[in-house]
Amino acid sequence: MSNAITSVLQETRKFPPPAEFTAAAHISSEEQYNAMWNKAKDDPEGFWSEISKNLDWFQPFTKVLEGDMPETKWFVGGKLNVSYNCLDRHLTTWRKNKAAIIWEGEPGDSRILTYQELHREVCKFANVLKKLGVVAGDRVTLYMPMIPELAIAMLACSRIGATHSIIFGGFSSDAVADRNNDAQCKLMITADGGWRRGKEVPLKPAVDEAIKKSPTVEKVVVVKRTGSDVTMVPDRDYWWHDLMEGVSADCPAAELDSEHPLFILYTSGSTGKPKGVLHTTAGYLLGATMTSRWVFDLKDEDTYWCTADIGWVTGHSYVVYGPLANGATSVMFEGAPNWPHEGRFWELIEKYRVSIFYTAPTAIRAFIKWGDEWPNKYDLSSLRLLGSVGEPINPEAWMWYHRVIGGERCPIVDTWWQTETGSIMISPLPGITATKPGSCTRPLPGIVPAIVSEKGEPLEANQGGLLVMTKPWPSMLRTLYGDHQRFQDVYFGKLPGLYFAGDGARCDEDGYYWVMGRVDDVLNVAGHRLSTMEVESALVSHPLVAESAVVGFPHEIKGEGLCCFVTLKTGAGDETLKKDLTSHVRKQIGAVATPDQIRFTNSLPKTRSGKIMRRLLRDIAAGRESGGDTTTLEDYTILAKLRDEE
Ligand code: WT7
Repeated sequence: MSNAITSVLQETRKFPPPAEFTAAAHISSEEQYNAMWNKAKDDPEGFWSEISKNLDWFQPFTKVLEGDMPETKWFVGGKLNVSYNCLDRHLTTWRKNKAAIIWEGEPGDSRILTYQELHREVCKFANVLKKLGVVAGDRVTLYMPMIPELAIAMLACSRIGATHSIIFGGFSSDAVADRNNDAQCKLMITADGGWRRGKEVPLKPAVDEAIKKSPTVEKVVVVKRTGSDVTMVPDRDYWWHDLMEGVSADCPAAELDSEHPLFILYTSGSTGKPKGVLHTTAGYLLGATMTSRWVFDLKDEDTYWCTADIGWVTGHSYVVYGPLANGATSVMFEGAPNWPHEGRFWELIEKYRVSIFYTAPTAIRAFIKWGDEWPNKYDLSSLRLLGSVGEPINPEAWMWYHRVIGGERCPIVDTWWQTETGSIMISPLPGITATKPGSCTRPLPGIVPAIVSEKGEPLEANQGGLLVMTKPWPSMLRTLYGDHQRFQDVYFGKLPGLYFAGDGARCDEDGYYWVMGRVDDVLNVAGHRLSTMEVESALVSHPLVAESAVVGFPHEIKGEGLCCFVTLKTGAGDETLKKDLTSHVRKQIGAVATPDQIRFTNSLPKTRSGKIMRRLLRDIAAGRESGGDTTTLEDYTILAKLRDEE
């Protein structure tokens, strides 16, 4: 297969779940998994119909699935409400006084909201939204720090059927204006500012700027968080606390159609304007709810912490909707992992006795760089399960996570999914899956992936190719807001009838998936298509390397040469180390992956969600000026620095 991606990663370690974990798990045997998976394969509608009983419905649906990819409707005719499923249904049980959200602010302040308290705040704020003229179907932009009011605002929107569009608090006013306009948003909810590493990130001033270019926005609600001076425009801007005063806490949940739009979340493509991924009510909620239970094995006794910002889909599905629909206790943290010290996360785990911890490989690599002494200072014995999401986790980072954080006792769930998929698609089930470091293992029940060639032909085991979904699933995106044609083209245009996620992967002889990263990042070295992630993994397995990014650059002989950007754990690199790293990579994966250039750097350009922006590094490696969209870049100055470090 000329199009196949050559996989060079060799990983043979295997970690079966501990027997005690299996004994107590929601999914606890291979037979149970097989029965679910086969039922879903043979009778998908029957399977999803059965699973949908885990939600509370105001009116039952008449048809499970209408249409086929890309145009699907799920649970047609059904009526339900997301906030009802996350709150009201727990109030008739003992959970009414259980902590729904344990929140800690960066300065160390904290709030614990029980289900009953959260319900009251949500109902009150839903009434506030109504008073401000928001009705079902309106779009509301949330541009907020990680404070409880963010979760309250989301749930209040879903309670009355307003569609929320959350914009991560680190985005610029231009990015906010673009997204406001694309969504034709009517109301914004923000705060004066938030805390980040001891400094205030001002939000309201950015909103003031954005609104000058967002003609559809009529009103702004502002939470007082930092207490700094802000300008309040009369008849446009209102303080949250003023609006909430004396408002009724009685607000019945709207009975919404299964396909009612729940939220829009903008995700940047590698080029062009951001894509407004639209998720709807029933399918999304079902996906978030069931995967939280299956993958995180959520139990009532757990204290569960997903470190993602709610501005990303991970925060939507696994800080708020999934855990709350399960009646779980979800920890929410405003701050950074290294403020005021590099042990802040471990301190929080000790303080709240966190039992399930879900974070990203980029964070894990930072923890490794900061040193084992930080986690070793704290009692992490409450942990029973660890998770990873956002990019392929390189086996070295996986082993460190397993050993230093998990005490060799906690299963690791490496969860593959996307903003577009709404919920986890491929992941270990912690009670049954023997994990292999670097593999997200097998599809969840109801999910039917495949590895295919550029022509859509199925590939054999261990052949690298395109990762696709062959069957629709309830929590898939329904459209790109305002641009249905783009939705069809981007996800279904390349391989008709298949959902193409943009990732390259292989599936091994045990049916385990190994995601190799975005196909846009694949290198073509002397006719071999290589995954950047695998070369990066080899580099990171060198004891001195903290992080690396590998990109191709035009090479006279090989077509593409390998340019490796390398961040060291400590100290500066020299020519000897370059030679050492080169032979290390050759030894790990062979001569085909011999680096042509190694460049040492203190940091790599990343999106705000931690993904390395290889597109920008490609420009640097080729000596080009960077064009294209950099609104998602975390630190612009890094680009200039990388050029200087040449
Ligand atoms: C892309 C989706 C899913 C929520 C956070 C990111 C990469 C994500 C994994 C994983 C390998 C992964 C893929 C995917 N990715 N999780 N466990 N192993 N790659 O959401 O911003 O929509 O990004 O992240 O490339 O396509 P997103």
